Amino acid sequence: MEVDNGLADHLKEKNQDHLLTYWDNLDPKQQARLKKDIEAIDLTELEGFVNRALSPPVKNGHSDNIDDLMKPIPAESLGCATDPCDENVKRWEAMGLEEISHGKIAVVLLAGGQGTRLGVNYPKGMFNVGLPSAKTLYQLQAERILSAEKLAEQKTGRKGTIVWYIMTSEATKKETSDFFDEHNYFGLNRSNVVFFEQFTLPCVDFNKKIILKEKHKIATAPDGNGGLYRALRKHGVLEDMEKRGVEATHVYCVDNILVKMADPVFVGFCREKNADCGAKVVKKSHPDEAVGVVCSVGGVYQVVEYSEISQETAHKCTESGKLMFSEGNICNHFFTLEFLKDVCSPTKEMALHHHVAKKKIPYLDISGATVTPDAVNGVKMEKFVFDVFKFSKQFAVLEVERKDEFSPLKNKDSPQGNSNARTSRWALMHLHHRLIAAAGGAIKNSEGQIITPEDALKQQGQEYPVQVEVSPLISYSGEGLAKLVKGKELTSPVHLH
Ligand code: UTP
Repeated sequence: MEVDNGLADHLKEKNQDHLLTYWDNLDPKQQARLKKDIEAIDLTELEGFVNRALSPPVKNGHSDNIDDLMKPIPAESLGCATDPCDENVKRWEAMGLEEISHGKIAVVLLAGGQGTRLGVNYPKGMFNVGLPSAKTLYQLQAERILSAEKLAEQKTGRKGTIVWYIMTSEATKKETSDFFDEHNYFGLNRSNVVFFEQFTLPCVDFNKKIILKEKHKIATAPDGNGGLYRALRKHGVLEDMEKRGVEATHVYCVDNILVKMADPVFVGFCREKNADCGAKVVKKSHPDEAVGVVCSVGGVYQVVEYSEISQETAHKCTESGKLMFSEGNICNHFFTLEFLKDVCSPTKEMALHHHVAKKKIPYLDISGATVTPDAVNGVKMEKFVFDVFKFSKQFAVLEVERKDEFSPLKNKDSPQGNSNARTSRWALMHLHHRLIAAAGGAIKNSEGQIITPEDALKQQGQEYPVQVEVSPLISYSGEGLAKLVKGKELTSPVHLH
């Protein structure tokens, strides 16, 4: 097949005519595939994205240093839920359960990432970290939805549905939906699980040229978890939410094994604050922890990455001696439907710029052979889910306990490593061990020796000293455990289900 002149001219005009380098060596099917993929790219839009991403405008229109513009979250927008016995926390929880019981709360899962650091060839949500139950992340999350619905029903007498919206990508779509089918939606009603797909963008080299990964295939990557907003708009998801009576959403990442689905405390807190947008945070473990902090910059809220600020700012303290910028982002967000409608509008969505991730992207050499580079050779462009904070008119931030709520699975297992399957197992078993201990139960190891959660802490960095797990179908966050464990000594492995 001859190459279409119009297409060739357009590519030339956009400086992308190298995409046709191997055209004459392709069979008709491959030519058709390449043509279709090229035509699907809006090259003018892409040019704009690349130019803005590679030479971003000065932050917030100010030429000043970001450090000088940063301000902590004002006290009136902050809440603390680290003590479950606190009256505020109990009130927020009751409010959140009330909302859930009316079916007003949905959860939105960001599951379109490629999980390159974990290095498995299937979606991260399908990962089994090695708990006694062998449950995958998806199963734990599904069961926590059932558990939150049940808790709300027990407290209010009304059964509300929590709809689960799952954003996948080209990389994760089919396997994820097949997995849910195979497992019968883990007990959820399948009509209350809604999959939608985020978009991809071509990867470009440092000369802004689109990279070919094969002679007839363009290298692409998902457009970041902030691709959420375009995907919500273009797939009609907001209309679906409206139709179902959803008023607010809890948005979270697939890889946090401790995530509290539709967390009633967080929902109630954000509702009480009348927030359109909210974020859960954990206290930074130390000033140099490489985590983004939630703060205000030049009058708008945002997440500032550790790499964007000076050491001096990272170490700055308040008059009372506390770290000034200590609100570590854990990708747990609250958005009202009205806020989502606003930020998903084309003008607002387009005002969110792509960030550049420099990566090693397989490419073709002059002979057309695939090369896996040793050094970064190009960029993936990604939007971030928290980039919309700047549009919030009423922002709220809730501090939660890290050991109860945050343990991300990012990396392959390694003895000294962090954020891997071992640390995920550890975090979940330690939490469940503490819940059992608080309910009056004790856990013995196989030698008959009682191991307390405090004993276990001395073995951090190793395997958890006992096997302990509580199914979400028994308890959402510790309620109801006393009648099962009070006064009992249970021998590891313990799996309450
Ligand atoms: P990460 O930034 O940790 O990326 O995503 P990742 O894909 O899981 O892992 P690496 O960086 O390739 O090793 C944080 C969350 O955002 C989602 C991920 O699925 C995860 O829940 N995400 C990321 C998307 O939904 N889409 C994307 O394009 C990128």
